[in-house]
Amino acid sequence: MSPHILCYFSGTGNTELVSMLLAEQLGDASLHRVESILSTARSRTVLTGDHPLVLLYPVYALDAPPIVYRLLAHLRRNENEDVPNRAAIITVPCDPHTTNSAAVLGVRRRLGRWGCRVCYENQVVMPANVLWSYPEHWNRQLLE
Ligand SMILES: Cc1cc2nc3c(=O)[nH]c(=O)nc-3n(C[C@H](O)[C@H](O)[C@H](O)COP(=O)(O)O)c2cc1C
Repeated sequence: MSPHILCYFSGTGNTELVSMLLAEQLGDASLHRVESILSTARSRTVLTGDHPLVLLYPVYALDAPPIVYRLLAHLRRNENEDVPNRAAIITVPCDPHTTNSAAVLGVRRRLGRWGCRVCYENQVVMPANVLWSYPEHWNRQLLE
C-alpha cells in the first residue's frame, strides 16, 4: 500500500497530537505541517498522485481554518503539481455536534475540482480551545 501523506494544521496542539498518533498507527506515513508546505516550494516533493493525502485540521466556526483553504489554493495554483487522487479528511472539533460536519464541505469541493476523491471522513473530538460568551440571563438559567 502507498505511504500516506499527512498534512495538518493545529492552532493549539490538539490536531498535532491526533496527527502524530495517526502517523504512528499507520507506520508508513509522512507528517507535514500546512505552514511548512506554504512557506516553501516543498509541496512539489511532498504531494504525489500515488500517495493518499490525509488532511487534518480543527473546526473553526463550523468550517475549516482559513489556512487550509490557503493550502488548497496554493496547490491549485501549481498547475503542474502531481496532485493526489485520493484523500481523507479528519476534523478535530471540540464538540460532537453534527453541525460541525459542515467543516468538510468546502474542502471536499475544492479537492473534487482536482479530481481528488475523498474516500474517508471522520471527526476526533478534543478539548475546547475557545470560550463562548452567553448572555447573562442564559448563564443564570443554566445555574438555576
Ligand atoms: C476561532 C475558533 C473557532 C472554533 N469553532 C469551533 C466550532 O465551530 N466547533 C467546534 O466544535 N469547535 C470549534 N473550535 C474549537 C477547536 O476546533 C477545537 O478545540 C480543536 O480541537 C482545536 O484544535 P487545535 O488545538 O489543533 O487548534 C474553535 C476554535 C477557535 C480558535
